[in-house]
Amino acid sequence: MSESLKRFLKPLGITAAGLALLGGLLVVSGIVPVRASSGHWAITRWFLSFSMARSVSTDSLDVTVPDTLDDPREILRGAGHYQTGCYPCHGNPTTPHPRVAQAMLPQPPYLPETLDQWEPEELFVIVKHGIKLAGMPAWPAEDRDDEVWAMVAFLKRYPSLSEEEYGTLVWGDAAPGQGRAALEAAGVVRAHVQTCVRCHGADGNSRGVGAFPRLAGQHEVYLAEALRAYVSGGRTSGIMEPIAAELTAEEIDALAAYFTAQTPRGLLTDPEALSPEAVARGERIARDGAPRRKVPSCVDCHGPGEAIENEAYPLLAGQPEEYLRTQLELFARGARDGSPRANLMHEVAENLSEEQMADVAAYYAAESPDGSPDTSSDE
Ligand code: HEC
Ligand code: HEC
Ligand code: HEC
Repeated sequence: MSESLKRFLKPLGITAAGLALLGGLLVVSGIVPVRASSGHWAITRWFLSFSMARSVSTDSLDVTVPDTLDDPREILRGAGHYQTGCYPCHGNPTTPHPRVAQAMLPQPPYLPETLDQWEPEELFVIVKHGIKLAGMPAWPAEDRDDEVWAMVAFLKRYPSLSEEEYGTLVWGDAAPGQGRAALEAAGVVRAHVQTCVRCHGADGNSRGVGAFPRLAGQHEVYLAEALRAYVSGGRTSGIMEPIAAELTAEEIDALAAYFTAQTPRGLLTDPEALSPEAVARGERIARDGAPRRKVPSCVDCHGPGEAIENEAYPLLAGQPEEYLRTQLELFARGARDGSPRANLMHEVAENLSEEQMADVAAYYAAESPDGSPDTSSDE
């Protein structure tokens, strides 16, 4: 407890325990104004931040920090969402205090000034659960701790970023607004849809680094169904759900058509980072399935090569390794529902071991997306 607070409380004979009781009574009594416009009395405010910090540190005790916090792809994935979901309240290096947020009470802090007080596991708890009574929302999707960790990876890096570095992360090489002309030409007129370009690139190759799945050349029906699944909640992603929710039915169709028409280019995973043994094991699963585990071959539905002609089956070649692995885990846990055909994947994924998922993800990540001859095997 701070000295000044003690001095203030002493004459009143209030101890820490009494203070907790008083806080409780204040809340229960209804004296505490809950209208956002009236703010909190200094003492209630102190009590709220104190109990917030305590509960965050208690909740974080059983959180295990993954070893991916320095991974540039994770930092990029988190940064992309920061600009969509956090900037409106917390600002960014260009606009530290957005006007709308200045009217909020308590005021959302400019995070580079406050982040160093939190450990990664505490940031995880704050971002996942939000802060009650402060208007700080919880992560929009349950079951997506992988996304929450991507945000924590970004927050750890954020205070050391210059304005320019921040801009490069969230906008890519494209200045804000670039890519909009192409989308508008495709019939997508509302200004906010240029936002796709930030993460997926105007050419749909998703900035080439593996933080985001590729959209270029993907089947049109699949892309539209994926967007509708984010809207319906069948597919959970704190990053894509809020974005998809803003789209009209016409925009979904126009965007799917636009990205399908783009040319897929290059791998999104550094081939050096993939073990050749894993790729080879993955190729066997993709081509022959895993009969003992009752897993069918993947290529019949997903390519490469001759696959069943079905626009609702996504192409997988050249998608990022980590993205593929995460999606298989989500199917296996029943956390990705998606389109009306997603049930086909539940059985497949449930019967794959974790290692098999990683292998088959490595195989598809190493496979060229443009249908050029397969160079990964000479069989
Ligand atoms: C609707 C506004 C709003 C949005 C959106 C929002 N926050 Fe907050 N956030 C707040 C407010 C208000 C506080 C201050 C709570 C307090 O001081 O009691 C806060 C506090 C925090 C804190 C603790 C800061 C500190 O040091 O005290 C972190 C970390 C944080 N937010 C991260 C995020 C991230 C990351 C996102 C995006 C995923 C986000 N917030 C989205 C309003 C928001
Ligand atoms: C902040 C970054 C970001 C922005 C902006 C963004 N996306 Fe995404 N997108 C992602 C991420 C991350 C995923 C993977 C989500 C998941 O795990 O389900 C994704 C997934 C998708 C998928 C599913 C791909 C697949 O193979 O299943 C589609 C379709 C998609 N986005 C379309 C769009 C469109 C259209 C827009 C613009 C309206 C857009 N995205 C804007 C980051 C972004
Ligand atoms: C009978 C057809 C079929 C078979 C066989 C099949 N899948 Fe799928 N797969 C689908 C469908 C349909 C979807 C799209 C689900 C949705 O709408 O969300 C899908 C989606 C996926 C996705 C998500 C792609 C993305 O862009 O998000 C991955 C990864 C995947 N399958 C991997 C595999 C692997 C690995 C195998 C083999 C072990 C396999 N699938 C076998 C039909 C199939």
